Amino acid sequence: FDMVHFGHANLIRQAKELGDYLIVGVHSDEEIAQHKGPPVFNEQERYEMVRAIKWVDEVVEGAPYCTNIPTLDKYNCDFGVHGDDISVLADGSDAYKIIKDAGRYREVSRTQGVSTTDIVGRMLLLTKTHHKRQVKTTFYYWFFIYTFGKISNELKKEKTNVDPTANSPWTGVSQFLATTQKIIQFSSGKQPNPGDKIVYVAGAFDCFHLGHIRFLEKAATYGDYVIVGVHTDREVNRYCGSNYPIMNVHERVLSVLACKYVHEVVIGAPYVVSPEMMDHFKVDMVVHGNSQVYADEHGVDPYEVPKKRGKFVLETSGCQLTTSDIVERIIEHRQTYILRNQKKEEKELANYKMMRNAGPMNGHTVN
Ligand code: C5P
Repeated sequence: FDMVHFGHANLIRQAKELGDYLIVGVHSDEEIAQHKGPPVFNEQERYEMVRAIKWVDEVVEGAPYCTNIPTLDKYNCDFGVHGDDISVLADGSDAYKIIKDAGRYREVSRTQGVSTTDIVGRMLLLTKTHHKRQVKTTFYYWFFIYTFGKISNELKKEKTNVDPTANSPWTGVSQFLATTQKIIQFSSGKQPNPGDKIVYVAGAFDCFHLGHIRFLEKAATYGDYVIVGVHTDREVNRYCGSNYPIMNVHERVLSVLACKYVHEVVIGAPYVVSPEMMDHFKVDMVVHGNSQVYADEHGVDPYEVPKKRGKFVLETSGCQLTTSDIVERIIEHRQTYILRNQKKEEKELANYKMMRNAGPMNGHTVN
């Protein structure tokens, strides 16, 4: 669970559906370094990120890389779950073989269209094609086709495979398709109870990270029901510039929905918190964290209305992390990451070929 994204959250969601109580084992830095190469986020950060996912009942810190029977028994687990991509040990063997052979293994589908490789690609190439924009004219259409062609070529060059046609089916570049089904699956489905205090927060929530989690945890203490406004890609790009947001609005919405402190999300929330919005959601308190508050495109303070109503508070998350720190950290690890991925893909490919020779692939479905 390094660089946690909504693909990880979706795996956890599916795993939870298979039983009543979900224990997530998170490997230590040392264990990951031994089998895969050093992680970008340290173990304390990864433990905290996983704990904040709403389907997680318990986290086992420093879980062994190879899931074995004594580990399952120690935590009273009936079975272990993994996505339908293969997890290989340093020697290239399947990390789940032991529990598969013992009949204590279940598999869930990997989320199509999202991979860490894709996200790193967006960061490195400063592309914006992941933003959700309307194609307004033929000119924009052709411009998009032209740019997309160039970017795919660049992404292909970025991959350092010896044989460019020999890619693993699990580690690749693809586009995530947000469906209403996925939003329903991630949503709490809960309405506020009568008398509940409603908290509203808004922001980009790009590359959902520890700063966001700690902020949402604090914001949640101001009421009983937390609504998060997730700004549109266009709006975030206006105040963050460059190629931000790295994650498009649908992806950002899913990451926020997966957080245990959140009850409801406004998809593409208006930048300025209006009186209509405050009344519609019966907002009792608007909370903003550490980050700078930018004026809207007309120079208006987005929190003018809640401030006038005495329903605005600044709350420090106590965490200085920002999305650009995350991007920098990932880019810094770029070389290690590329090498790590290359090795991972070679091992996956060897296993994939073996599986293909052995018969049809198990459960490689869209979910
Ligand atoms: O920067 P972004 O718009 O994603 O932030 C969403 C909310 O999280 C804002 O209220 C921001 O101030 C808060 N935040 C925080 N501490 C961080 C990062 C974000 O309080 N380290």
